[in-house]
Amino acid sequence: MISRSTSSAPGKVILFGEHAVVYGRPALAVPVTQVHADVEILDSNSTGIWIHAPDINLHSELNALPSDHPIASVIHNFLFLSRQSVSPLGRGAGGEGKFPNLNIKISSSIPVASGLGSGAAVTVALLRALSSHLNYPMTDEEVNAFAYDIEKIHHGTPSGIDNTVIAYAKPVYFIKGRLIETFKVGAPFTIVIGDTGISAPTKKSVADVRKLWEADKAKWESVFDEAGDIAKQAKEKIETGDWRLLGGLMDQNHALLQEMTVSSPELDRLVEAARKAGASGAKLSGGGRGGNMIALIERENADDVSSALISAGAKNTIITQVS
Ligand code: MEV
Repeated sequence: MISRSTSSAPGKVILFGEHAVVYGRPALAVPVTQVHADVEILDSNSTGIWIHAPDINLHSELNALPSDHPIASVIHNFLFLSRQSVSPLGRGAGGEGKFPNLNIKISSSIPVASGLGSGAAVTVALLRALSSHLNYPMTDEEVNAFAYDIEKIHHGTPSGIDNTVIAYAKPVYFIKGRLIETFKVGAPFTIVIGDTGISAPTKKSVADVRKLWEADKAKWESVFDEAGDIAKQAKEKIETGDWRLLGGLMDQNHALLQEMTVSSPELDRLVEAARKAGASGAKLSGGGRGGNMIALIERENADDVSSALISAGAKNTIITQVS
């Protein structure tokens, strides 16, 4: 019988604190289960490890891909790890045995380079599927640390927030280098996510903010302090159930992100349209320059705000509850 393993990982949205989080300030992020990366692994009769990712038009044998390809590097690093000497948990074959013949199918409904964590979600789903298929169990902490190393290969200097919220699939109050801290949602609230449809690599916006910071550290440290302070206040409001007060904080955070030059005319247009349609606040979410924005809404306004976003150019919207 052909053995089959599957795994899935959610997308994520940053509620507060992107970019400043790279500089040690706190940020808040939640998983978004409406979009996800899915991986299926089957034993194969053909020699080699075959990867099929139709969403990105990829059909290739592992060794035909550059070793720093995002998907290839997850598989190579995993095979390397699982070949290390047998761990205290008794995992891992150790030694130099033959590599398995596999068919790996990857699909994702998370738009690429859109601020919703598509890269980290594919890494986490692929890793968990490999770990189950090749009988090398990994804890959430190990999956998270592994995914962070992959994020570093592809994003330069990531804070680690994307892999953390996706690996644990929990709301996260994240401070770089600290143990994972989740937060309680005192009263559920609704946000609408609007996609500009423009892909914008996080690596570029993070590198551009770094150039600004290098040119005037005192100024940008103080901007990051403001963003961190907003994230702290937002956590308190979410925990006490005062979510209606988050709108003003989102607007303030968006203004800081504009100052960091990571907004764009398309993002600003969607943010403005959401506010006009009744959202109590809105901001870009993630790396910026394109990708997605979020708006805080009353549940009954969701359809109006979503339609206003589509009229203002959004390619897609997701209405989601943070609970
Ligand atoms: C990307 O989702 C969030 C950024 O803050 C980058 C990072 O934290 O690694 C822009």
